[in-house]
Amino acid sequence: MADRLRLGVIFGGQSGEHEVSVVSAQSVISAVSDRFDVVPLGVTKTGAWLSPEEAARQLARDDEAYKKTLELPEAEGLLARPETLAALREIDVAFPLIHGPFGEDGTLQGLLELAGVPYVGAGVASSAIGMDKALMKQLFAQAGLDVVDHIVVRATRYRTDADEVRDAIESSIGYPAFVKPANGGSSVGITKVRSREDVGPALCLAFRYDRKLLVERAVEAREVECAVLGNDEPEPSPLGEIRYTGEFYDYEAKYLDPDTKLIIPAELPEATARRIQELAVRGFQAIDCAGMGRMDFFLTEDDRVYIDEINTLPGFTASSMYPLLWQEAGLGYDELIARLVDLALERHQERTHG
Ligand SMILES: Nc1ncnc2c1ncn2[C@@H]1O[C@H](COP(=O)(O)OP(=O)(O)O)[C@@H](O)[C@H]1O
Ligand SMILES: [Mg+2]
Repeated sequence: MADRLRLGVIFGGQSGEHEVSVVSAQSVISAVSDRFDVVPLGVTKTGAWLSPEEAARQLARDDEAYKKTLELPEAEGLLARPETLAALREIDVAFPLIHGPFGEDGTLQGLLELAGVPYVGAGVASSAIGMDKALMKQLFAQAGLDVVDHIVVRATRYRTDADEVRDAIESSIGYPAFVKPANGGSSVGITKVRSREDVGPALCLAFRYDRKLLVERAVEAREVECAVLGNDEPEPSPLGEIRYTGEFYDYEAKYLDPDTKLIIPAELPEATARRIQELAVRGFQAIDCAGMGRMDFFLTEDDRVYIDEINTLPGFTASSMYPLLWQEAGLGYDELIARLVDLALERHQERTHG
């Protein structure tokens, strides 16, 4: 077919979620290879951009040492890779699948904007806001969504007066509390603190990932997620619930613990589910998101709903929550990808032709 679109799948990247991204890319590529001409564009952990041939070769590796990590020691940054630049120039639409910094945070989206390439998912501003838990919570609160009480702590403030920060946590948040980097993901750098003694180590850990942290009141709650799909008229999926065995939904529970369960659909009264779906759409619109967003909520025993966060680039393997929620709604994995590509093209068209 002459009119098959060339879909550039951009994956890997420099964050701790590199491996997850590689798995997502493998799932996407194998699901839609008969629908699109897929051009794989891999980014290594050091930020080197592989050519499509190099990326395809890496994906085909099955040696024991290969732990879903893209490697090519001699490769360099994008501007030093003429073959990769040429491939980028020739794609019709990009699917950025890199999580975290330099992928999910608006920087990659900015590059694609400058290059005039339509791309799946959130634009520059909403990607950047969706990466910053402090900024996203401000916008959610402004849109009338409940967010858990929190304070923002910057590294300079803590260095200047650690006791003042401890006092502020105790007077406005109390224990237990969650300490988390503002820009993070996969629960990396997050600690649940129960006493003043816990605060120092938790803050030091989180400051390894960001200069800005949130300290948040811990809520006792079920964790419920909704997948939102669309541009100006986004739709909510059925809901899913996460059940895990540990203290909270940490890295281990997310990727390693076989006892973690995704319950789809979540077992909830109809009215509660509808309320959360409505909040999901409002949260998506509050940060001006586009394409897709996974909206994560806390649902307390007394039926209060807090929005925890939006993920503008949620895990996207065939067994990840976002695609599974759409499957529950009757939209299969490959159809979902095709729909996201259509939304990307529509948005690009509107932006370039008013
Ligand atoms: N305020 C809170 N109360 C209770 N649990 C929390 C709170 N904040 C975070 N958690 C736990 O930590 C997990 C990760 O936190 P989250 O803010 O979603 O960061 P990430 O972007 O790394 O997923 C949540 O899924 C939840 O299990
Ligand atoms: Mg989360």
